[in-house]
Amino acid sequence: MCVSDMVESVVGDVEAEAAEDLVLIGSYETPIRLVRDSAEEILLLWAIQQPTLCKQNAFVRQSSLLLDIEACGHRLTIFQSPSSMSTPGVTGAVMWDSGVVLGKFLEHAVDSGRLVLQGKKVVELGSGCGLVGCIAAMLGGQVTLTDLPDRLRLLRKNVEANVIDRDVRGSATVSELIWGDDPDSELIEPLPDYVLGSDVIYSEGAVADLLVTLRKLCGAQTTILLVGELRNDAILEYFLDAAMKDFIIGHVDPTQWHPDYHSSRVVILVLVKKNSGNEVED
Ligand SMILES: C[S@@+](CC[C@H](N)C(=O)[O-])C[C@H]1O[C@@H](n2cnc3c(N)ncnc32)[C@H](O)[C@@H]1O
Repeated sequence: MCVSDMVESVVGDVEAEAAEDLVLIGSYETPIRLVRDSAEEILLLWAIQQPTLCKQNAFVRQSSLLLDIEACGHRLTIFQSPSSMSTPGVTGAVMWDSGVVLGKFLEHAVDSGRLVLQGKKVVELGSGCGLVGCIAAMLGGQVTLTDLPDRLRLLRKNVEANVIDRDVRGSATVSELIWGDDPDSELIEPLPDYVLGSDVIYSEGAVADLLVTLRKLCGAQTTILLVGELRNDAILEYFLDAAMKDFIIGHVDPTQWHPDYHSSRVVILVLVKKNSGNEVED
């Protein structure tokens, strides 16, 4: 058997197993595929989604000062600061596809009855320009958008323009949260119903701190939604490996996404904490 036949056969086996491995995870009310093995998951993602066939950042214009996007019956205007991207370590001054996909996924999931955000406590990590948190507030969430201290000015400006100056169903506030640090008491008392993060799994150095924060924010009733871009297998595999020790992880099938916002480069994960009545039967 040649190498490509072997890969196809392994992928075929994994796909067949995966089809039987659908489970309900947290408050996302549609069965999704359970992630059981990080290396197998990466192989499957690449085989099914074929990310290299799709353009990176197809839904955003990172060189522009503004990004306009329709969501929840409103036109959102997201201010960006492309010039800040030349500062080492700054990544959240412009939007990324993962954020657009997560925002539109939330809208679609709420509209199709898969998710309820109305009145729920939501914390977003690494909010960047804030599109995801703004959409979550429009869908009724009581949202706190968080990021590094030097990212909060742009974030506040976007929250003011899109949530505070408008009549929306939920609310949004902005707060500093550096991964690995102790979260302010308002973030954890009570623990959130949802923790959101788009494009926050991109640096191996930050994964350990990100996981510390996820553990601190996550109680038995918390559902985590993370959207990441398939650009570096090693980091995603590293994250999945480490996260699987504490969390049950599922992978949302692209057919459950917003129909206009499919990107084969992006993956949507749902996580809940283990050992909190969330066990999945084998
Ligand atoms: C690639 S950007 C994604 C921004 C936004 N979520 C999006 O999808 O457009 C990563 C975000 O994580 C934030 N971030 C990185 N390291 C962090 C840390 N240690 N603590 C808190 N936020 C961090 C960055 O400031 C940035 O806003």
